[in-house]
Amino acid sequence: MKSFPWGRVAFFVTGNTCKFDEARMVLAEYNVATAMLRVKAVEIQDDSVEEVAKVSAIDAAKKCGLPIIVEDAGLFIEGLKGFPGSYSSYVYRTIGTKGILELMENVEEREAYFHSVVAFSSPDEPPRCFHGKAEGKISREEKGSHGFGFDPIFKPLNGHDKTFAEMTKEGKNKYSHRALALGEFAEWYTSGFQK
Ligand code: IMP
Repeated sequence: MKSFPWGRVAFFVTGNTCKFDEARMVLAEYNVATAMLRVKAVEIQDDSVEEVAKVSAIDAAKKCGLPIIVEDAGLFIEGLKGFPGSYSSYVYRTIGTKGILELMENVEEREAYFHSVVAFSSPDEPPRCFHGKAEGKISREEKGSHGFGFDPIFKPLNGHDKTFAEMTKEGKNKYSHRALALGEFAEWYTSGFQK
């Protein structure tokens, strides 16, 4: 069983303060403090969210000289054959939520899911990945002002017909892909890296 020479802290490499706040709340439930490290890590393009997260984590751990986590997510829309998937970041920057709603104007199949991968890496160990999935639907219009990215158009299953953007961070964390992946990570991290 490993100890935490740096204290019970997870070093989260991200520039996204919304992601950081969501992670901080989840990890606090496991008595793990979260530190935000703004390090420019490599971000490759690949069909697999896991591969993107892994490569970033290895690069970030090398650059920081610390055990770190990174998190990558993608939105997979069934009616668009899984688009934008691991290319969500590019699609968000280019056509955004409005572009997705336009693409889906005549699409009845609105099921979609977010897939999150939390990748842990340290300078002397291979990376390890933890997954989370949030199933839901793409709404017909944007709703809500909280959160980020595709939150205004994603309604999680059993979320009382609200989009993520209509929920507080605590509310979103009850359903979110990221909260699930971080929970898996936290179980492992606080068990002294067992299993
Ligand atoms: P990233 O590469 O993990 O930052 O995520 C790729 C893109 O997916 C981002 O640009 C966001 O637009 C979107 N995204 C990731 N996670 C979420 C989320 O929890 N809610 C809404 N959009 C998200």
